[in-house]
Amino acid sequence: MVNKFTTFYRHIVEQERKFPEATGQLSDLLADIALACKVISLEVNRAGLIDILGFTGEENVQGEQVKKLDVFANDVLTHVMKQGGHICAVCSEEEVSFIPIEDKFSENKFVTNKYICHFDPLDGSSNIDVNVSIGTIFSVYKRITKSGPGALEDCLQVGTEQVAAGYVIYGSSTVLVYTNGEGVHGFTLDPSVGEFLLSNEYIKIPKKAKTFSVNEGNFCKWSPGMKKYISYLKEIDSVTSRPYSSRYIGSLVADFHRNLLYGGIFMYPADSKNSSGKLRLMYEANPLSYIVEQAGGRSSDGVKRILEIEPKGLHQRTPLFIGSEEDVLMLEKYLAEERKEVSVK
Ligand code: AHG
Ligand code: MN
Ligand code: MN
Repeated sequence: MVNKFTTFYRHIVEQERKFPEATGQLSDLLADIALACKVISLEVNRAGLIDILGFTGEENVQGEQVKKLDVFANDVLTHVMKQGGHICAVCSEEEVSFIPIEDKFSENKFVTNKYICHFDPLDGSSNIDVNVSIGTIFSVYKRITKSGPGALEDCLQVGTEQVAAGYVIYGSSTVLVYTNGEGVHGFTLDPSVGEFLLSNEYIKIPKKAKTFSVNEGNFCKWSPGMKKYISYLKEIDSVTSRPYSSRYIGSLVADFHRNLLYGGIFMYPADSKNSSGKLRLMYEANPLSYIVEQAGGRSSDGVKRILEIEPKGLHQRTPLFIGSEEDVLMLEKYLAEERKEVSVK
């Protein structure tokens, strides 16, 4: 039973108390992210009015530039992160490189900017204009360098080093889901109170699902193993609950969230045009993989655990297979068989 009126901030502070060495900075940082996402949520809800109110030009009524929503989300997150003073660098899908940040409180003689944040500020951006759910994905690491603004080595850490990760969905309601390594917890924004309130504690993904999510329009570009697996899911077999249902929104966060709660496998494989798939390791795959594993699910690039991939670049892409454990294992089996057949030839 979920306690009524447990706010996001109260929850993270209580979680942090489990670690006696904690300074409270991570809680403050997560609260900053939640604040930025409330601002983005407001703007997302207003987005449909922009055409109606005639704000389509370069300037709005105040004479300000009208920003595209993904640029707006990026600006809000970056601004709030800089102001909070807890991070030494911010990395965003919308930026060419990372943004180093000075230690705001360096006169205190101890380093306060000890974290790094990665963002996909607006995921599913092709759905903005058609009222389909979109979201923000975030992930937090501890810095490696000792002081000053962050460096590339702080930003390019392997996914297992994440100390927190989460996402916010701007959908029929605004929902925040996060983990700090102590389970996965969901909160729903009460717009009248202006707070994220605890709605799902210790979320667990079903071990086996009846749903798959993939852009099947790419079928002709997939490898034989991938094609065989999808054909397998569509065969009739009552013992294994096949055929599976297909659900694909085209916003990773929304597809992932549904599968997290109901069970399912989401796939964005490599194909003949994109040898590493489409999704980004640091901004999309790593945070969602940390969450799915905390919820008892599985995530891989088809061969290897996503969280163990050594990043080589901030914008690196990876194939992604993520969701209910037994389904991801079955997919991996099909891809392993394909590799075996290729090596025999
Ligand atoms: P973004 O809007 O951050 O660029 O991400 C879009 C991604 C992801 O949200 C979604 O799962 C995928 O693109 C959809 O791609 P296809 O249109 O190729 O299916
Ligand atoms: Mn995205
Ligand atoms: Mn994006």
